[in-house]
Amino acid sequence: MSEDILYDQSHIGFLEELWGEGFLSPGGPEEVARVLDGVDLTGAKVLDIGCGSGAIAVLMVRDHGAAHVTGIDVEDPVCAAARARADAAGLTERITIDKVTPGPFPYPDQSFDVVFSKDSIIHIPDKEALAQEVFRVLKPGGIFAASDWLRAHDGAPSPEMAHYIALEALDFAMASPARYRAALAAAGFGDVALVDRSPWYAEVAAAELQELSGPRRATWEARHGPDFIAHQIETWTAMVPVIQSGEHCPHHIRGRKPG
Ligand SMILES: C[S@@+](CC[C@H](N)C(=O)[O-])C[C@H]1O[C@@H](n2cnc3c(N)ncnc32)[C@H](O)[C@@H]1O
Repeated sequence: MSEDILYDQSHIGFLEELWGEGFLSPGGPEEVARVLDGVDLTGAKVLDIGCGSGAIAVLMVRDHGAAHVTGIDVEDPVCAAARARADAAGLTERITIDKVTPGPFPYPDQSFDVVFSKDSIIHIPDKEALAQEVFRVLKPGGIFAASDWLRAHDGAPSPEMAHYIALEALDFAMASPARYRAALAAAGFGDVALVDRSPWYAEVAAAELQELSGPRRATWEARHGPDFIAHQIETWTAMVPVIQSGEHCPHHIRGRKPG
């Protein structure tokens, strides 16, 4: 994690306009529901790792029936946005947002029924330590249900992938499905499952590039500035081919702590 704020107000504003209010990742409520497919949140205590600006914490309480969501993040602007969103939804009592430092979670063993994360573990380089921490804070029988941006292999990225990652400038620490699978198994998880979401996001990302660079470009430029939008178009132009090639491969990730 760098010392700089990576998700500042301008970045939050742009991503929320592209992906929906309170969302700093693609897919909206439908994709969250797919990540949670088959996981009953009714009455559950949930940890949301990398909660961003909080729409998903609200969704999990309001629409999925969670009793309480603890959202953790490492940056002040997103934590403030998430707290404001929980307050505005009247869910202050059922959503706690904790700013944390990277590393072990500040919660006792067996604190949560479900640990959720959407497109945030990409920022956590030590997948093995993360898997152990998730396992530690889950109750027996608890579920880890996540989505994340992975890459096909753990070797040196192709020049196209390296170019894309450099443009993102977001301390990405992408790892392969094989590394995630091994990390979860080594931590003790059973029923480990990974589902490749790149066919879905390849289509969505191509549409996003068209949205930013097509006839509506001037509207985006008016709201976010021509230089900012030019950089986003450059980033998306680099991203679409590496998703289509499968080197950048978003996945859903699932594991169950034996109960
Ligand atoms: C792409 S955003 C996704 C946010 C949210 N999950 C969503 O889908 O809207 C990634 C988030 O992970 C957070 N993050 C980065 N490093 C983290 C860490 N070590 N622990 C928890 N969150 C982290 C970032 O600050 C950011 O809010």
